[in-house]
Order: sequence, then C-alpha cells, then structure tokens
Amino acid sequence: MTIPSTADELGRPMSAPEFAAVTTAIVDNIERVIEGKTAIVRLALAVMLAEGHLLIEDVPGVGKTKLAKALARSIDCTVRRIQFTPDLLPSDVTGVSVYNQETRDFEFKPGAVFANIVVGDEINRASPKTQSALLECMEERQVTVDGVTYRLQKPFMVIATQNPIEMEGTYPLPEAQRDRFTARIAMGYPDGGAELAMLDVHGAEDPIDHLRPVSDAATVRHLIATVRDVHCADTVKQYAVSLVTATRESHDLRLGASPRATLQLLRTARAVAALDGRDYVLPDDLQHLAVPVLAHRIIPTAEAQMGRRTTDAIVADLVHRLPLPVERPQRSPYDGRPREPRDPFDRRR
Ligand SMILES: Nc1ncnc2c1ncn2[C@@H]1O[C@H](COP(=O)(O)OP(=O)(O)OP(=O)(O)O)[C@@H](O)[C@H]1O
Ligand SMILES: [Mg+2]
Repeated sequence: MTIPSTADELGRPMSAPEFAAVTTAIVDNIERVIEGKTAIVRLALAVMLAEGHLLIEDVPGVGKTKLAKALARSIDCTVRRIQFTPDLLPSDVTGVSVYNQETRDFEFKPGAVFANIVVGDEINRASPKTQSALLECMEERQVTVDGVTYRLQKPFMVIATQNPIEMEGTYPLPEAQRDRFTARIAMGYPDGGAELAMLDVHGAEDPIDHLRPVSDAATVRHLIATVRDVHCADTVKQYAVSLVTATRESHDLRLGASPRATLQLLRTARAVAALDGRDYVLPDDLQHLAVPVLAHRIIPTAEAQMGRRTTDAIVADLVHRLPLPVERPQRSPYDGRPREPRDPFDRRR
C-alpha cells in the first residue's frame, strides 16, 4: 500500500496581507479556548510554520493538552492523538504489516503518525522503545516498516506534552529525542485576569467543542513556503552560530546545542519574523527564541546542577553576554527589493 505523499508540494508563498490574515485567524481561534497566553500561542504556531515539533512541558492542569488540541482543531487536516502509556507499542505509533487472508498478501496498516498533526499526550509515560519509534518520523518525515519506507504528509508536526514533576512510572526523553523537538514551552499559570476570564468563558461548557477550523493543510503549506522565503542576512546567521557555539563552550554545560539546533533556531526565527510582519530576520528574533529552542537540548554540569541553575537561566545568561553583531552587511540584502526595511543592525547597543 502506498501512502499518498504531498512532500514537496508547498505551493506558492503568500503575500504579506494574506499571510497576516490567515495567521491572525489561527491565533484568534486558539485564543477562544486558551486565555491570556498570546505569546505562547504565537510561538506554537511559529514552530508549526518552521516545520518543527513542539514539546509542551508543565505541571498538571495548565492547558497543555488544550493548546495542542486547539491548534490541531484550528486547521482542517488529519489529526491523530496518542495517549502514551507504558504498554503502548512502537507499531501503534508507526504502523504494522498484517496478513490479509483474502488477498493472501501482507497489508500495511498505518499507525498514529500518519497524520498532519500528531498530539502525543504524556510522552514520558511510554517506554524508551516506543518513544524511539518517533525518532525516524520526526527527523526524516518517513516511516520504515518491514523494509518499506512510507513518506509522511506535509505539514507534519508532533505536539507532545509532558509533566516534568512526575517521576514515578515515567521514562525521561532521551537526548536524541529531545533534540528533535524544535522548541519546548512551559504554559505557566494564567494571570489573575485571565483566570477570571477562564471562569466566565469556560465555567459552564468547554468552548473547544465549538472550535471550528479556520485554515487547512494546503494553506499551511503556503504559509510554510512564505516562511522559507524570509530573508536572513549573513551576519544574523553568524550570530546564530555564535550563540550555539557559546553553549558548546560554556563551563556550565556538559552538552551544548547541536547543529540541528542551529538550523531549527534559524527556521523558527524566520517564522517569528513573518508572524511579526517582516520579511527579514532580526538578531532579536534569535535572542527571544534562544531559551525555548536551545534550553531543552543541553545538559548542565554537575556543579551547575548542584547550584540549582536551570538550563533556561544558563542560556539566558549566554544571550545576555554575547555581543550583538555590529558590522553591517557588505551590500544591503534588500537591494532591488520594492520596499526598503530598516537595517537590522542599525541599533548598536
Ligand atoms: N490559560 C488557560 N485558559 C483557558 N483554560 C485553561 C487555561 N489553563 C488551564 N485551562 C483549563 O484547565 C483545564 C485543564 O487543562 P488541560 O487538560 O489542557 O491541562 P494539562 O496541562 O494537559 O494537564 P495534565 O498534565 O494533567 O494533562 C482545561 O479545562 C482547560 O480549559
Ligand atoms: Mg494533558
């Protein structure tokens, strides 16, 4: 059985007003069910548009599953949900070949990853073997079962949730698995006003039951094509490399960020820039994304751990200490473009 692949059919990039209209509609739609978390909702969308995967890590009851469901429901595409448990099998995730008596042949039954959005709830409750079944899918966007490789659809995004406090009966994600998540976000508690609004809006019935899609998979592919088109000056790229190198050289860290992290940092920065209405990346985009994109992949030294320094704090500190790039690009990257945006480095600090 062949699974139809939409792999390289991203289609044309969108105009700026079109992009703004679609992305605003998606954010507004999600905010109908999640109160007071605009920055997090935008970051989740940015990760999707950067063709990445999202890890939502926080204590119980702060809306992790709700955010994952709301994003998935806002887009008319195939969504599968996997509730991770210790007895979940790798074949439940990827699929399995079964013998068909009638045709006298093996038939592939696709697993839960054959969808545009895969919501993996409480991912740290599955055994390492099942967690690792996700590895190939997340990085290569394909599944190999019994020697046959099946391409996954585009967009393909894994949104996983986990509770960092819970220890009993959990299997912490291995490093290679964590590295495949473009960003890790914590929901955080809503502020007083947002919690009050939640009681008013969500007190009686759950508004997610009435949430309707405001976009579809084809439109998301156009959004992704638009994000890929966002310009990034060489000096900004160099800044990304310096940021990642700083994690590898830090005395507080036993493991720094990987080249995969650098790629994902830049992709997400392009998405954030586009969501901000820009067609070029600013160093500030990288600064804002450093903690969500880098902090979950790095490992602190024993001393840093004993000093109770979190990886978030270590990355934030590196960002603070690393000087912003100051030299101007040799030639303006915007030459010949119809509009002349502000030079990203024209604000020496
Ligand atoms: N910021 C918020 N805005 C609106 N509703 C919220 C918010 N935070 C939590 N809730 C509500 O709290 C309830 C619990 O949310 P949810 O099930 O998503 O939590 P969770 O983080 O996935 O918890 P668990 O780790 O136990 O699975 C839901 O009804 C959700 O609507
Ligand atoms: Mg949950």
